[in-house]
Amino acid sequence: MAREKTAPSTQPIGVGEPLLSIRGLVTEFATADGVVHAVDGVSYDVYPGETVGVVGESGSGKSVTVMSLLGLIPQPPGRIAGGEVLLEGRDLLKLDPKELRKVRGKEIAMIFQDPMTSLNPVLTVGDQIAEAITSHAQVGKDEVRRRCVALLELVGVPNPSDRFDQYPHESSGGMRQRAMIAMAIANQPKILIADEPTTALDVTIQAQVLEVLAAAQRETNAGTILITHDLGVIAEMADRVVVMYGGRVVETGSVDEIFHSPKHPYTLGLLSSLPRPNVDMERLLPIPGNPPSLINLPSGCAFHPRCHLGEGRSSCRTEIPPLHQLGDGRHSACHYHDEMSEEAARVERETGTTIEGENP
Ligand SMILES: Nc1ncnc2c1ncn2[C@@H]1O[C@H](COP(=O)(O)OP(=O)(O)OP(=O)(O)O)[C@@H](O)[C@H]1O
Ligand SMILES: [Mg+2]
Repeated sequence: MAREKTAPSTQPIGVGEPLLSIRGLVTEFATADGVVHAVDGVSYDVYPGETVGVVGESGSGKSVTVMSLLGLIPQPPGRIAGGEVLLEGRDLLKLDPKELRKVRGKEIAMIFQDPMTSLNPVLTVGDQIAEAITSHAQVGKDEVRRRCVALLELVGVPNPSDRFDQYPHESSGGMRQRAMIAMAIANQPKILIADEPTTALDVTIQAQVLEVLAAAQRETNAGTILITHDLGVIAEMADRVVVMYGGRVVETGSVDEIFHSPKHPYTLGLLSSLPRPNVDMERLLPIPGNPPSLINLPSGCAFHPRCHLGEGRSSCRTEIPPLHQLGDGRHSACHYHDEMSEEAARVERETGTTIEGENP
């Protein structure tokens, strides 16, 4: 299922201005058990035309990060306690709800996991795509219909003129997700956010929908944030990767760097617990322990209770590691990132796999 990746970005990574820049974002939720530190100082950039894959265990803050920049966090119980999110220099966190509504759907579009929750069941698919267009631009009725049918065609919906008049429940999950993608790109957004876009679909349909997403991105040249648990999807789709753990970014790099030479023990853990061809299941190394509590995050490096590299080292328990810059767009939040080659070699010996220098 090799897909030709889009050019990493129209500009070399780290050069020029990012389209979207998330800086030190902090989002918390007040709950009966205490404050949930869902997003704790997250920073990453998105350049035009590139796909940034965001990966991390359930509850690591992947969705809350993007919901925060879209103004979709319920407040209360949520609170954006710090940071900025610059879209071409404008801080989205400072916009009022009306201004933000204009940005949503026009400049930034979102594709969610389950289209049934984001499509309105009482409106036809065509009406909903049409509304996405007419709510941001004045376009005549015939022109709107023509554009909608062209969009449905682009996302591979067969007989698009007939589908235009159907209701969401008359389509399969895969077709609904294609319609969502059509709606998302209807206004040529600058940023496309896809949060687990294929998780709810059958495996065979997943590949098709990813193809459609890639085509939609090529068509719009949108900078894309693709959130997924699935490292296979990341390998297939992403140009760059952001790895999150416990509400923080722990590593960033190109997809090749992340897969070939991870610089954070958590990323290495994700890679070595990934089932792959030619690797016995018994030799996989699951990450020991459980995801951290976001109410009582472990002190120092939040990953330290599960980390082989940090065992017995007090700095890991006491000092939150900064996100060390290792190169252009390359970061690691590990105190001992310079020991990662040996650590990867150890894991290779234990699992019989090759991580360092391996082809993804
Ligand atoms: N409305 C809310 N009230 C309280 N806590 C919340 C709320 N929304 C999210 N959280 C918490 O914020 C944390 C981060 O959630 P988030 O949805 O960003 O995780 P995620 O990385 O997207 O996980 P998944 O892979 O399961 O989608 C979780 O612990 C979650 O329980
Ligand atoms: Mg999520």
